[in-house]
Amino acid sequence: MNKNISLSKYRIPYHVAVIMDGNGRWAKKKGKLRIFGHKNGVQSVREIIEAAAEIGVKVLTLYAFSTENWSRPKKEVDTLMTLLASSLKKELKSLQKNNIQLRAIGDLINLPKQARKELEEVIKKTASNDRMILNLALSYGSRNEIVNAVKSISKKVVNNELKIENIDKKTINNHLYTFSLPDVDFLIRTSGEQRISNFLLWQIAYAELYFTETLWPDFRKQDFYDAISEYQSRERRYGKISEQIKKHE
Ligand code: FPP
Repeated sequence: MNKNISLSKYRIPYHVAVIMDGNGRWAKKKGKLRIFGHKNGVQSVREIIEAAAEIGVKVLTLYAFSTENWSRPKKEVDTLMTLLASSLKKELKSLQKNNIQLRAIGDLINLPKQARKELEEVIKKTASNDRMILNLALSYGSRNEIVNAVKSISKKVVNNELKIENIDKKTINNHLYTFSLPDVDFLIRTSGEQRISNFLLWQIAYAELYFTETLWPDFRKQDFYDAISEYQSRERRYGKISEQIKKHE
C-alpha cells in the first residue's frame, strides 16, 4: 500500500481483465520446468486479487486457462488443473475474509472432476460476498462463447420466443457467459505479447489496453498499481471528441 496512494479514487476501472502470460518463459529463464512458473504465478494471482479489491475494482476477470490450452502436453494440463483445484481450496478462507465473490466463465463442463468440484464449492460458498467479483476464465474461448450465444438466440427465434427484429446488442450481451457483468474497462496483458488471444472479444469493445514486458510471476501489487495509474492518465472518448468528454467529467 505505498504508491497506490497517488491513484485517484474517482477513476478506478470498474471491470479489469488480465491475460496472465509468461509463466513458462519465467521458469525457463531460471533453468526450471514450466510448471515452476505456474506455481509462482499463483502468488501473483493472490497479490493482484488483493490489490484490485483494495483500490475498489468491482470485477476482476483472470484468463486462467483457454480452450486452446487443452492442447498443451498432458502433464502440464494435469498439473495446471491440480494447481487450480488446490489453490481454490486454499484461498476460500481468504476470499471469505475479504468479502470476494468467485465466479467462472468458459466451457466448465470440460474441467476435470476435482477442479470442477472445488470451483463449484467456492462459487457457492462465496455467492453472497459483494466487495468484488473474481471471475475466472477457465476453458474459455471468446469465439466459442459467441457461437453458444448465437445458438441460444437462434433457438429462441425458432421457438417464437424472440423476433429477429428485436435482436440487438443487449440480446447478444445477455447470451454471453458474462451476461450479468459490465463491459471490460481495462485489459492488462503481461509478458510482452500484444495480442488478445480469443479473450472477451465482445466485452473489450471500448476497453483501454495495457501491455507490459513483465512476466506474470513477476507482476505484483506495485506493477498493478502502475498499470492502473496509466489507465487513469488515458482519456476514454468512446468515439466522441475530447471537449465533449471533458464537459461531462
Ligand atoms: C500463461 O503462461 C499462464 C497460464 C496458461 C496459466 C495461468 C495459471 C496460473 C497463474 C496458476 C493458477 C491459476 C489460478 C487462478 C489459481 P504461459 O504458460 O503461457 O507462459 P509462456 O507464454 O511463457 O509459455
